Amino acid sequence: MSKQISLNVFTMNCVGHLNGGLWRHPSDQAYRYKDLDYWVELALIAERGKLDAIFLADVLGMYDTYGGNADASIREAMQTPVNDPLLIISAMAYATQHLGFATTHSTTYIQPYLLARKFSTLDHLTKGRVAWNIVTSYLPHAAKNLGLDDLLPHDERYARADEYLEVLYKLWEESWDEDAVIRDVEKGVFTDPSKVHKINHIGKYFKVPGPHVCEPSPQRTPVLYQAGQSSKGRDFAAKHAEAVFTMYPTKDLVEDYIKDIRQRARNFGRNPDNIKIIPGFVPIVGETEEVAQAKYEAYKKFSSYDAALAHTGGATGIDFSQYQPTQVIADIKTEAHQGMLGIFARSTPGSASKHVRDWTMEEIAKTAALGSFMPVVVGTPDKIADWIEEWSSIGADGFNITELEHSGTVRDFVEMVVPVLQKRGIFRTEYKYKDLRSRLYQREQAHLPEDHPARTIVKEVVQ
Ligand SMILES: Cc1cc2nc3c(=O)[nH]c(=O)nc-3n(C[C@H](O)[C@H](O)[C@H](O)COP(=O)(O)O)c2cc1C
Repeated sequence: MSKQISLNVFTMNCVGHLNGGLWRHPSDQAYRYKDLDYWVELALIAERGKLDAIFLADVLGMYDTYGGNADASIREAMQTPVNDPLLIISAMAYATQHLGFATTHSTTYIQPYLLARKFSTLDHLTKGRVAWNIVTSYLPHAAKNLGLDDLLPHDERYARADEYLEVLYKLWEESWDEDAVIRDVEKGVFTDPSKVHKINHIGKYFKVPGPHVCEPSPQRTPVLYQAGQSSKGRDFAAKHAEAVFTMYPTKDLVEDYIKDIRQRARNFGRNPDNIKIIPGFVPIVGETEEVAQAKYEAYKKFSSYDAALAHTGGATGIDFSQYQPTQVIADIKTEAHQGMLGIFARSTPGSASKHVRDWTMEEIAKTAALGSFMPVVVGTPDKIADWIEEWSSIGADGFNITELEHSGTVRDFVEMVVPVLQKRGIFRTEYKYKDLRSRLYQREQAHLPEDHPARTIVKEVVQ
């Protein structure tokens, strides 16, 4: 059988995710982001297309670098306003049976003990259909509103996140035995206390005695998503993640990334095939090439220079308003989001950006407004499917379908491209597995696999 791909919808609980200015497009529905109807409709479309999951990005602050304030982000709805992604999942899960839900949470701003409970609860409510996108957060605005003077240094955020994961593995994997809950009415024992264990974690950043307050959920640990792009970020992803994501614009950048992540995974003693690599892309599909091109032109017309640079500037920590549209961006070091900068700063050490020429401000803005730096693939369903097959052949395990037009991008993809992928035998026609992790690995695998570092960490605690 041909290799089967994974497909996620990549979106956010806001008006403008990675599509600056597109809310002005007459068909865009993102203004309805506050309505459960809108999210349930999206979930039903995704489930109709047998997609793997809806992947919700999130940030905890505003993009306030551009011009030294958040005006552009506020004016142009660039990830502002942004509602909590977790709170919309229960409704979508109730309306569906198979679709997975990935949500972003930051290791920097919520205690691991609390995060463990949120995800255990959601994993119970969805019957094992949740993933956690682990981020360390790059917005100084979030840091300042969440009790810090400024953003923690980049590498320290990852060091802290590493210990954070250790705490979570202990809570999710070790704290409750599988048979702790017995619900013995006669003896009057709901849970056997001898099967619920403290974790006694004392580390550099966290002190958590435990036990976890939730009983084991179907997956115990939610499926772990991550998208670190810097060297530290890639190491973190290679150690912990089960699925990693890219926004690289070119095939050779993704190919380099795949080789690099798989090698780093081996260095952590993991089977490199147990880390799935999911590039993002923006499909613009039409029944004919002309229809698709016309859609593309309309999207370009509504895209916004300021919104795109407010987002890119906020994510990289650079105030792009100081540059002229024709100016080329030189090498700049940033504490915020080194991976994105590496794409267009030609000589950033350790980045794979040798494949990409220098960028002018205008090029950055025009590109970023339509899906950040992800490839935009415009054409007929067959052309989009050809592109998917070509990128799968370099080792991509699946793709993030990134919305330009809410929810038109996903609806068009499900109605026009999915049938072609199914006909070519590279995408499921029916859901097979109950939980999201098994679907990702395409085998019965509700819990973390044996080669995952969590297993070693937990064993060390037990001994
Ligand atoms: C597909 C994708 C999705 C991401 N989603 C989020 C998100 O929702 N919230 C966030 O704070 N960062 C998000 N990021 C940023 C990453 O977590 C990470 O900070 C970024 O890639 C920079 O990593 P680096 O600092 O290791 O270079 C995302 C990145 C990618 C590629």
